[in-house]
Amino acid sequence: MSEWSPRSWKDRPVEQQPDWPDAEALERVVKSLGALPPLVFAGEARKLTAKLGEVAAGRAFLLQAGDCAESFSDYSADSIRDKLKVILQMAVVLTYGSGVPVVKLGRIAGQFAKPRSSPTETVDGVELPSFRGHIVNDDAPIAALRVPDPDRLIAAYHQSASTLNLLRAFTTGGFADLSQVHAWNQEFVTTSTAGRRYEAIAAEIDRALRFMRACGIELEAEASLHQVDFWTSHEALILGYEEALTREDSLTNDWYDCSAHMLWIGERTRAVDGAHVEFLRGVHNPVGVKLGPTATGAEAVALCETLNPDRVPGRITLISRMGAKTVETALPPLIQAVSDAGHPVLWVCDPMHANTFTSENGRKTRHFEDVLGEIRGFFAVHKALGTWPGGVHVELTGDDVTECLGGAEEVFEDDLPLRYTTTCDPRLNARQSIDLAFRVAELLRA
Ligand code: TRP
Ligand code: MN
Repeated sequence: MSEWSPRSWKDRPVEQQPDWPDAEALERVVKSLGALPPLVFAGEARKLTAKLGEVAAGRAFLLQAGDCAESFSDYSADSIRDKLKVILQMAVVLTYGSGVPVVKLGRIAGQFAKPRSSPTETVDGVELPSFRGHIVNDDAPIAALRVPDPDRLIAAYHQSASTLNLLRAFTTGGFADLSQVHAWNQEFVTTSTAGRRYEAIAAEIDRALRFMRACGIELEAEASLHQVDFWTSHEALILGYEEALTREDSLTNDWYDCSAHMLWIGERTRAVDGAHVEFLRGVHNPVGVKLGPTATGAEAVALCETLNPDRVPGRITLISRMGAKTVETALPPLIQAVSDAGHPVLWVCDPMHANTFTSENGRKTRHFEDVLGEIRGFFAVHKALGTWPGGVHVELTGDDVTECLGGAEEVFEDDLPLRYTTTCDPRLNARQSIDLAFRVAELLRA
């Protein structure tokens, strides 16, 4: 294979990059980003690879969750805290309900860029450049604000840094302590079916902790009860940004993309000879690849060969997004091909992206039953093939939004406009997310 460098992606066909109006301005920004400190440390990425290797081997489960697209405008300590809360709640439900360790990976602290099906869109008869995420342009349908602005790369870096800082503080500073399980349940969740089920588990955890204390175990000394390892991930889409944050580790002399612990490649940019695969081939972070219903077994194997030639467990995560109706026919040939090739991969289900439709009142939405249906199909396929359904990848928010339909406290089509605040795709609200965690825990137990 040809020589790799952080810039070698530039010799490959590249999809989904913005039309930056001023190439020099972009170069200047990429250069200054290159001088800023890394957001994560190579040793952390290695530790995550080892954890994901445990998942690939069937000894742990991956919960990858967060916003579809983080926003420059809807950004506050409260929104970060509330997202973390719901992910911790899901992790508690999954860990307690299944007895399997859960690796907690946020779509957060860098999840800003969006691939688009068309470079332009028409709003009220005016053709505008498509919104590509706040790292590129603004979502407001105003031509001047849709022009890609490289200074946004710097803003995204700083927002990622402060988000990650708060996450590190929360997850190691006492907020994620198991003695806080009740405190993560927000008012609007407590009053729901999922919230009440969650409270019951929280009470059992309290009892278990009291029991251990009564047995003479010194709980204070057990760091694992008081902290969690929380990892960050995003789609590596804007390659100039990722390149600028790619650094050589002084311990191993290997390259790491220090913008996040884990990076993934989207369904639209996974061409094996394309720029995105070329870029991620050379960094040593754990990487993911999304696979949609048109993916073939040969493509999946080629991606494994290119991205993980040394067959390191935990290095590669294949994230299928097939649709509830398609998963049981489209996924088995991929798993079969990868298994036959002997590649250690971690299989994860993204039950969101192939279950999106437009409601009668014109809102992009997803139905809870379809999300659950795809996860059920994913588990059924793995059961039939004797492989491990390693995790789920979901879009959620800690807020009480009305973006996805269904759930125990049913959101109806007429409710969608009430609190529809997403910058991009519809997200599960906190109740729907916890409800989903209970269902997944049941599938894991079965
Ligand atoms: N550290 C353990 C873990 O991550 C236990 C734990 C502490 C935990 N706080 C948590 C688990 C919050 C889930 C959620 O599994
Ligand atoms: Mn999305």
